[in-house]
Amino acid sequence: MPGELSINLTGNLKEKPRDEKLVFGTIFTDHMFVMDYEEGKGWYNARIEPYGPFYVEPSMMVFHYGQAIFEGMKAYRTKDGRVTVFRPRSYLERMNRSADRMCMPSIDVYFVHKALKKLLSIEKDWIPSSIGSSLYIRPFIVATDPHLGVRPSYTYRLFIILSPVGAYYPEGFKPVKIWVESDYVRSVKGGVGTAKTSGNYAASIRALFEAKKRGFTEVLWLDGVERKYIEEVGTMNIFFKIADRIVTPPLDGSILGGMTRDSVITLANDWGMEVREEKLAIDEIYEASDKGTLQEIFGTGTAAVISPVSSLNWDGKVITLNGGHAGETSVRLYDEITGIQYGNIPDRFDWMEEIE
Ligand code: COI
Repeated sequence: MPGELSINLTGNLKEKPRDEKLVFGTIFTDHMFVMDYEEGKGWYNARIEPYGPFYVEPSMMVFHYGQAIFEGMKAYRTKDGRVTVFRPRSYLERMNRSADRMCMPSIDVYFVHKALKKLLSIEKDWIPSSIGSSLYIRPFIVATDPHLGVRPSYTYRLFIILSPVGAYYPEGFKPVKIWVESDYVRSVKGGVGTAKTSGNYAASIRALFEAKKRGFTEVLWLDGVERKYIEEVGTMNIFFKIADRIVTPPLDGSILGGMTRDSVITLANDWGMEVREEKLAIDEIYEASDKGTLQEIFGTGTAAVISPVSSLNWDGKVITLNGGHAGETSVRLYDEITGIQYGNIPDRFDWMEEIE
């Protein structure tokens, strides 16, 4: 246990943005949570302090060898003025799975969860209330040893920063165009694709940059060995509705186990839909489209929520879905999940935690 949580509040509060001006990830609140780690001592010096720069040495290991993991979760303000957070413990537990893969120290989920709730209660005036906006929570851990040479760092720092956000994609809930990537790969089994580690995103940027130049919003990754099986989209897991069944790739070693993915599977099962987690080859999707059984494609993610897909382009072969409109299952899932998050639909799965 890191001991006492010390709190140092700033008297210099920033102006808060209006909900309708919010984009994703550009504004940060007044305070952050920070905690240090040293081998043999564990996590210590847990503190809430003003958001701001911190001292780094150019030799800090994270810059050289990339031991960095992060999470992304969201807090909401409900219509009746309550402040809630979506499945915080599950995200912190996932952070420990990422830590394990990256040979980094695990956190005490109980302690960090309590500290996060305290931080949220201090910053609760920053939480926007309009549907589509929320307070994005970004916990992350970086290796801080000043050292050159590949080994696990002996020291780390954990931060939790907060950012009031609007939609992740400029399209909002409008369907996005996706580029199926056949040249670059994101991950292979045995690699770090299952961990929420910065290197996975670094590996994706070249393909995303090229896809954007061609007019696409995101990249759909295929497996790194056969370049055939569907994995995930840049910042989302991917789902298909084929012949009235929901299908998504299984968590079998190279893709991230998304919390929204998990919540969507729970919801669809609860509605009595057939959900399959199974390997899907990209050509099966094109065959289903030719046969007329491909009904919908949508992505799921904390930042993106539910993002319907309007078209896929795989080596020049184009599939267009639902005349460019969101399909009925995507709309129903978006309405249900945001309904639960904003407190307009009863939370029958106990996903929301209230902040005092
Ligand atoms: C999230 O969905 O929370 C993510 O971490 C994706 C991202 C903004 C990189």
